[in-house]
Amino acid sequence: MIFVTRKTHFSAAHRLYNPTFSDERNEDVFDKCNNFWGHGHNYVLEVTVKGLPDPDTGYVIDLKKLKALLEEVIIDKVDHRHLNFDVDFLQGVIPTVENLCVAFWQQVEHRLPSGELHCIRVFESESNSAEYFGAPVSVPRYPATHAYNLQEAV
Ligand code: NI
Repeated sequence: MIFVTRKTHFSAAHRLYNPTFSDERNEDVFDKCNNFWGHGHNYVLEVTVKGLPDPDTGYVIDLKKLKALLEEVIIDKVDHRHLNFDVDFLQGVIPTVENLCVAFWQQVEHRLPSGELHCIRVFESESNSAEYFGAPVSVPRYPATHAYNLQEAV
């Protein structure tokens, strides 16, 4: 088995916040990441597929096609967006790197031949990343918010 990885980048804002927590608990759990107006990251996304090289092409996957797929189903939707508000498939999801891995997996997996997707890895900084190999996991979805509540800000 050979593993082939496409690495790509996007920039986005997010706020870590659980709407079922009190303000104090959100502050306590998420600390600076709970900042009301959100904050930005230059994310790195790595998607690894596995398989055997096609004897005619030498490719496990045509990386041009993987690049185009990732742009269509992930990058075009998240780049320069606010992950809490602007992304259809993230509505109501707390946008940690862990949850982004799972959500991105769900975006990609059904568009590849069965079993080909091996790993999704998301870095939100040089130091912090998560990786996901597709084991069953349930990510809660809270009621989606679509904009800042300015009453809450004052
Ligand atoms: Ni953050």
